Amino acid sequence: MHCVRKVTDDLFWIGANDYRTELFENIHPIPEGVSYNSYVLLDEKTVLFDSVDWGVCRTFLENLAYVLQDRPLDYMVINHLEPDHAAAIGEVLLRHPETTVISNEKAFLFMNQFGFDVEGRMDTVKEGDTRCFGKHTVTFLFAEMVHWPEAMVTFDTTNGVLFSADAFGSFGNLGGRLFDDEVNFDRDWIDNARRYFTNIVGKYGPFVQRLLGKAKTAPIKMFCPLHGPVWRTNLAYYIDKHDKWSRYIPEENGVMIVYASMYGNTESAAQALASRLCEKGITNIRVYDVSKTHVSYLVAEAFKYSHIILASVTYNLNIYPVMEDFLHHLKVLNLSKRVFGIIENGSWAIKSGSLMEQYINDNLKDCRIINSRVTINSSGNRSNEIEMDELADDIVKSIAEEEKVLAAGEAAVAKAAEEAAEKEAIKKMTARERMAYYRSKRNA
Ligand code: FEO
Repeated sequence: MHCVRKVTDDLFWIGANDYRTELFENIHPIPEGVSYNSYVLLDEKTVLFDSVDWGVCRTFLENLAYVLQDRPLDYMVINHLEPDHAAAIGEVLLRHPETTVISNEKAFLFMNQFGFDVEGRMDTVKEGDTRCFGKHTVTFLFAEMVHWPEAMVTFDTTNGVLFSADAFGSFGNLGGRLFDDEVNFDRDWIDNARRYFTNIVGKYGPFVQRLLGKAKTAPIKMFCPLHGPVWRTNLAYYIDKHDKWSRYIPEENGVMIVYASMYGNTESAAQALASRLCEKGITNIRVYDVSKTHVSYLVAEAFKYSHIILASVTYNLNIYPVMEDFLHHLKVLNLSKRVFGIIENGSWAIKSGSLMEQYINDNLKDCRIINSRVTINSSGNRSNEIEMDELADDIVKSIAEEEKVLAAGEAAVAKAAEEAAEKEAIKKMTARERMAYYRSKRNA
């Protein structure tokens, strides 16, 4: 049965929700599912924007047939070739031999690699090219590495809709709802969105920044991403989250404590530190057992918080393997600008602390390690109490310092936005208005 939502008068969501896949990309757990979004524009010409994962292809094809009724499908715009959106291209081409595929050179190369026969049906576009479908004219903006090299976004200059590909997406099923104003995003979705962004495109922060820069130049009224809700209300909220994530700026000045414990002694130390911090007034704390928490969740939390405390037992004269894997993920995803604290444990030849310190110094940019370190010999004792107090005090101090840094960063961003808005306003003034404006500024 078809399951379609109207996005605007002539634009329809024809995607589908996937509740069955356990692991997105066969690696990231998605207990709340995921949506694969695809859209159809009914103009003088009909246009399909991207397809879906093979797992929901049947629903998608029913939706496409329902929206088209008996009209031909004139165009298919492909913004991104990863199979969670492109798997159904072949099926669409078979059912619609009349369709011309609009995409870029690299995407056509990938289509060839994936075995989609688009020979004789290709319309290759470059950055800034436009296509008119009747009432609607669209332009193409390349979005390299967001999150593959062929990725692009398509901006409808007629109604301000940005088909944003993987950008502004999220894990989580839509369950009938489609728009950001139909969900409580900050309560129910943000954790899924952060985990999606940080694990899927977290590595490519500078590329996301480049896309955000391009997006600033377009009068965007709506994001239509390939996963998660369509944004038509609070776009600034979501842009701000992406701006922070892609600049590796923590969202919150708080503490993530991750422990690797074999028999509970390192875990006790982690819990003791958390309690001490709370007694000292720092309550924005999350404690995780690295062995019990999928690394995709840990990565997302590491992007969220300003302070990361690593508590690891020594294992085979090394960092505990699961903790090392977590650190490896932070390195691969380019996490930077964090403050770390260290608790180490071992019954002989305690090595985990110095190895974690070395790993951070060698691999994570612009990070600082708090000097105080807790060193446990098998299980915590009196001298550890003193070390623990020192570490807690240093974290409290660091949180206070970070507050100032974050506030200064926010102020700089606000000032830059104000200056950009002023520049835009001046550009639109007549010469006379401009003179009057500068005169009044001088006299102010
Ligand atoms: Fe949702 Fe990069 O695919």
